[in-house]
Amino acid sequence: MVLTGAGISAESGVRTFRDDGGLWEGHDVNAVATPEGFARDRELVQRFYDARRRSLAHVEPNPAHLALARLEEELGEDLLVVTQNVDDLHERAGSRRVVHMHGELLRAACEACGSRPRWEEDLLPSPPCPVCGARALRPDVVWFGEVPYELDRIGRAVSGCDLFVSVGTSGSVYPAAGYVSLAASSGAHTLELNLEPSEGSRFFDEVRTGPAGRLVPEWVEELLGG
Ligand code: APR
Repeated sequence: MVLTGAGISAESGVRTFRDDGGLWEGHDVNAVATPEGFARDRELVQRFYDARRRSLAHVEPNPAHLALARLEEELGEDLLVVTQNVDDLHERAGSRRVVHMHGELLRAACEACGSRPRWEEDLLPSPPCPVCGARALRPDVVWFGEVPYELDRIGRAVSGCDLFVSVGTSGSVYPAAGYVSLAASSGAHTLELNLEPSEGSRFFDEVRTGPAGRLVPEWVEELLGG
């Protein structure tokens, strides 16, 4: 099982959250990533995610995404990628077994009927929901204070895996940050691949530091070759 975070998309040009120059700079987290912020200023939040959705057109998967897709080709159902990222770079690299625990930029969520239609356009100015017609669409992104998607499925995968690999995540946001301990307590070997030691590095059996675009292909080669 591979858990990915913003760091795997950094070399594609998607900005991470907590590094220098990260996404939160100039944006108060409470303004753009909480339900309260959305209630306060829907237009600002919609504009923020519209810009992020549009920016997907200008980025491409990097060797780290491609290596994970190659790994899935070999392992099939024995590999699950759980990502905290809302971009679609895993899918564009060819991965199929991907869980977006924090949602997806390319989906909207209807506050009226609960549907989650695929969405590639702007959400301003309030287009109607394709399912119920209400003008109540929001980005399908899990904000602080909201419950991530598919936690049961992820929990089963984490506690059932024999190898848990974390790529490009600061280990500062739960529940994802707790998965390494759950995997370890279930007997899995745990490996961190990150630009620098993360906040959770001490919980891993093995830590490799460097850019994901180099570390992930190296690790996949090693796993498939060995
Ligand atoms: N290769 C590998 N790791 C990298 C690279 C790179 N090229 N560039 C940056 N990193 C590492 C950073 O050192 C950092 O530890 O990736 C990590 C990114 O951490 P965050 O920005 O905190 O992103 P993430 O862990 O995905 O954040 C988790 O927080 O705000 C919420 O919902 C949001 O999904 C997000 C969650």
